Amino acid sequence: MPASARELNLAGASVEVFADAATASRNAADRIASTIREASVTRGKAVLGLATGSTPIAIYARLVALHRSGELSFAQVRSYNLDEYYPIAPTDPNSYRAYMQKHLFDHVDIAPNHAHVLDGTVPEAFAASHAAEFDRWIEADGGLDLQLLGIGRNGHIGFNEPSDLSTEEAKALPTRLVSLHPVTTSDAAKDFGGEANVIPRALTVGIRPILAARSIVILALGANKAEAVAAALQGPITARVPASLLQTVPGKVAWLIDEAAAKQLV
Ligand code: GLP
Repeated sequence: MPASARELNLAGASVEVFADAATASRNAADRIASTIREASVTRGKAVLGLATGSTPIAIYARLVALHRSGELSFAQVRSYNLDEYYPIAPTDPNSYRAYMQKHLFDHVDIAPNHAHVLDGTVPEAFAASHAAEFDRWIEADGGLDLQLLGIGRNGHIGFNEPSDLSTEEAKALPTRLVSLHPVTTSDAAKDFGGEANVIPRALTVGIRPILAARSIVILALGANKAEAVAAALQGPITARVPASLLQTVPGKVAWLIDEAAAKQLV
């Protein structure tokens, strides 16, 4: 693994601060590759929670490169993506299904029925049961070996947005249909050709299944994430900053961030 520039221990979580985004992404990819190799051997399968957004693109590029060079197989991988817009067709270029096919699934040896993304085409009356079923699939697979996360500027993880829930209520949130927060809609405007075109709802894996993962790798890159990173790591544990709920499971969380994203840590 590439050396990190410096390591911090904040609220019990491991925080590695890298000189640049490329090094942080490479470290994240190598952790995922190690988990795939180890769990494939010890359990006969590796169960991953995967993320989308701009942050993980370099991670998937590295995993594809490892596969192409014969160093990594996805034959034993089961993956569960964090979120998906609702409603959306899988062929829509803004769908997270299309993103995953483009950046990872189309280029590696993962079976189609092992690469799960929440379905943006289910009838609305069945969205809740589809979401609950997704949680049951993860449990039936023995739980997540590793959950990869990004972070929103408002501190969201997946599409678990800031709320006024109590900490206990927020920690119990299952996979479900949600409405996007204004900051999220504004950040997604560039992908949809304007804020008015952003699909305002989404299916998201809940806080409960995220915290239940055996390990969590959260990547934050760039100065626009610095405030959310500081709030999540050094602020109070609160549903107002969903990533701060990771402080409740510190031993299994690895934050991989670049110097720009670390700027507001004190
Ligand atoms: C998106 C996704 C999240 C992602 C976050 C950050 O809206 N729902 O899963 O981690 O926002 O995205 P980016 O990596 O593009 O900054």
